[in-house]
Amino acid sequence: MKTTGTLAAILGLISSASAHYTFDKLLVNDKQVGGDNTYIRKHTNGYMPTKFKNAPSGSITPLDADFSCNKGATGAQQVISVKAGDKIGLRQAFGANGIQHPGPSQVYIAPVTNAKADKGSDWYKIHQSLICRQGSPESLRSNAWCSWDENNVWGVIPATIPNGQYLLRAEHIGLHGAHDGQAEFYYSCAQIEVTGNSATSIPGTSTKFPGGYQASDPAVNFSVWGRSTSYDVAPGPDVIPGGTIRGSASGAGGDKLQTVAGASSSAPDASSGGDSSSPAPSPSVSAPSSSAPAPSSSAPAASATVAPAPTPSAGPGNGSGKGKGKGKGKGNCTRSFPRRAAAVLAAEIDGAAGKQ
Ligand SMILES: *[C@@H]1O[C@H](CO)[C@@H](O)[C@H](O)[C@H]1NC(C)=O
Ligand SMILES: *[C@@H]1O[C@H](CO)[C@@H](O)[C@H](O)[C@H]1NC(C)=O
Ligand SMILES: *[C@@H]1O[C@H](CO)[C@@H](O)[C@H](O)[C@H]1NC(C)=O
Repeated sequence: MKTTGTLAAILGLISSASAHYTFDKLLVNDKQVGGDNTYIRKHTNGYMPTKFKNAPSGSITPLDADFSCNKGATGAQQVISVKAGDKIGLRQAFGANGIQHPGPSQVYIAPVTNAKADKGSDWYKIHQSLICRQGSPESLRSNAWCSWDENNVWGVIPATIPNGQYLLRAEHIGLHGAHDGQAEFYYSCAQIEVTGNSATSIPGTSTKFPGGYQASDPAVNFSVWGRSTSYDVAPGPDVIPGGTIRGSASGAGGDKLQTVAGASSSAPDASSGGDSSSPAPSPSVSAPSSSAPAPSSSAPAASATVAPAPTPSAGPGNGSGKGKGKGKGKGNCTRSFPRRAAAVLAAEIDGAAGKQ
């Protein structure tokens, strides 16, 4: 640790803005709408992560009240009108250099009366992004994840939720330090109003922020430094019926988007284009990634009942929670990572260690 401390400090200065990130620009169907924070609540945490342990100076933990929309978040000027099938992305600020931390992304919504003022109470997960490239223990530390190198966290508005105003919370969790209790949470809230739906209640299970994540949760007390090649433990509650899951726990099947079944029969599904009773969700969301190999447009998404559940091929506990310790993990990581990502992660892990 000590020997790399100075180098890490230098790398940290150079790369801190790209190593960390926050989200301030809203994308609707991949096009930016408004300017910085027009629809996304501004918070006071800059690009610093939220962590259970060794939170950066001035930041918060997932147990703090502001874990919903980030520290000191205040209402944005406007509320964006969206409809079922719209792809909503929260794009990185500060140059949007791409997410280069291994880990899952989640999108939650909380119904509110006034999206400019209310805080939200019950959060429903409408999107889960997992692993898109099946690979090795090494790739689980980098580009196995669907979100790797992408500059926004996105989800799709379900047809299964009622019209009205919501806060939409997009989150990425960096798992590189999670074996040591230092999973990193990056998140912001957009203010949306859903129109065109006919549902009268939100299906599925909600959670609270804070409260929804605990330090002991397998999803955040997880090691990417073992032999595991999969992530069988998505954080938070299940994606609601009508919500979407991108990729899978193991990456088998590649970069595919599946709609969670179980919604009422009036709900259109994202892959078939929907029925005639409501605006057709855009089928274009099923091939979202420019660089991902083989998005499976032929995937039988219509009938698939997906849950963020384990695949049978990798038992829980295979490598998870059993990291070899910071030093060794980092050394082996550095060799197999793209150079820049390795430097960023090395700097960050060292930085975190130095704060202990
Ligand atoms: C994380 O998992 C390890 C190994 O299973 C365990 O020893 C440790 O107590 C867990 N940490 C928390 C915060 O629960
Ligand atoms: C653990 O992972 C290794 C390497 O990927 C694999 O050979 C082994 O079968 C796995 N064990 C279990 C219990 O999943
Ligand atoms: C990396 O892993 C190899 C075996 O896979 C091991 O021999 C080596 O000591 C490790 N290096 C570090 C720095 O931990």
